[in-house]
Amino acid sequence: MKSNTALPKLNRRITIQEMGTFSDKLLILMNDIREQMLAPRPRKRAPSYTISQLAQLCGVDRTRINYVIGKEDSTLPKGSLQGSGKSRVFTLAETQDWIRAESNILMRPEGVLGDIIVVANFKGGSTKTTTAMSLAQGLTLRGKSVLVVDLDPQASLTELCGMYAEQDVAEEDTVLPLIYGDEENLGYAVKETYWKNLYAIPAATPISAAEFAIPKKVMQDRNFPFWRIIGDGLQPLREEFDYIIIDTSPSMSYLTINGLMAGNAMVMPLVPESLDFISSTQFWGLFADLCRTFANLEPNKAFDFVSVLLSKVDNGPSSAAPIVRSWSQRAYGDWLLPVEIPLSSVVGSEALEFATIYDIENWPGGKKTLDRIRDPFDEFCKLVDEEFIVKWQGANK
Ligand SMILES: Nc1ncnc2c1ncn2[C@@H]1O[C@H](COP(=O)(O)OP(=O)(O)OP(=O)(O)O)[C@@H](O)[C@H]1O
Ligand SMILES: [Mg+2]
Repeated sequence: MKSNTALPKLNRRITIQEMGTFSDKLLILMNDIREQMLAPRPRKRAPSYTISQLAQLCGVDRTRINYVIGKEDSTLPKGSLQGSGKSRVFTLAETQDWIRAESNILMRPEGVLGDIIVVANFKGGSTKTTTAMSLAQGLTLRGKSVLVVDLDPQASLTELCGMYAEQDVAEEDTVLPLIYGDEENLGYAVKETYWKNLYAIPAATPISAAEFAIPKKVMQDRNFPFWRIIGDGLQPLREEFDYIIIDTSPSMSYLTINGLMAGNAMVMPLVPESLDFISSTQFWGLFADLCRTFANLEPNKAFDFVSVLLSKVDNGPSSAAPIVRSWSQRAYGDWLLPVEIPLSSVVGSEALEFATIYDIENWPGGKKTLDRIRDPFDEFCKLVDEEFIVKWQGANK
């Protein structure tokens, strides 16, 4: 039986005037949400280290540390005594002094320029930012001074460096003035962070303006070398920093192209899942096109090494990791690093939302859980550092 009480039809028509007021309402809501998001979070603080941790980082025995502390003429920091048991703890800065003096890790010889490592993969969420920041911190724990450069408008690396991109970072603090041609190099943008010997060139949403500014320059001057703005801007900083690590966005943007061309080494983190693997092959396809385009323009451009790091590796029974690992071995050969970063409940946890594995002092889940993820990161940092140490020594001969 046909009902004569049909529901009234919804009127979905909207005029452009109404659209204007809708956008105003949305703006008010967004401001509210923004206020909540920007509610003060505790500023980041670098961890401190116990004697055992210090000894491990220096690659020496605890007794050696105690011996040096007891020596009258020792100039190394003695740390401070804390807690009821009066155990000795060392700040990050003190720890780095010890590492430089006591470990047998080699430093960059004087007169040799620092190196630029770019972390890239067009696949979103492939752990680029986590890898870039952990590598940077891990290298400072090998006595190096490191600059990280955030080329992603999402600014996650900036946040990991303890800055609130939305609040603390203005356009002029980013790479934009260099892109606009208002600055000659990136020295103006280098910021100290909460982590000793880790400096950052931050990002914020407005850096996406580079995607319009760069092609505009090319339209004005067809010969403008648009791919080397960032690389050229970083050159003078290579004297000051042992490593410059660039984090890129998950897309082939002008900023990403600049990052790729600035690097003299590249690390591609790859999550061993089928779709990620396929997308990584697409990355190399596009990157190869880029290299062909620039081969004549930059005949001397070379990478000291290109590495693929399997990351967030799920070693569970139903994981695709074994099969994707075997594809990766075939595809990438010795580019594939011998160390893998496992999927970890520590990294994935909420406690690490604005932090990395190196920011944690203690983990409620226990030292073993922490070491399971920390050890491979240490190993990764060591591999990268040692590649360059060999190169630096060669350069100094
Ligand atoms: N080993 C790991 N175990 C578990 N979770 C991880 C691990 N490494 C990274 N993650 C998590 O994976 C997510 C993506 O990582 P990250 O932001 O570093 O990727 P990305 O490639 O920089 O992403 P985007 O493409 O958006 O820039 C983050 O939530 C991070 O905490
Ligand atoms: Mg990222």
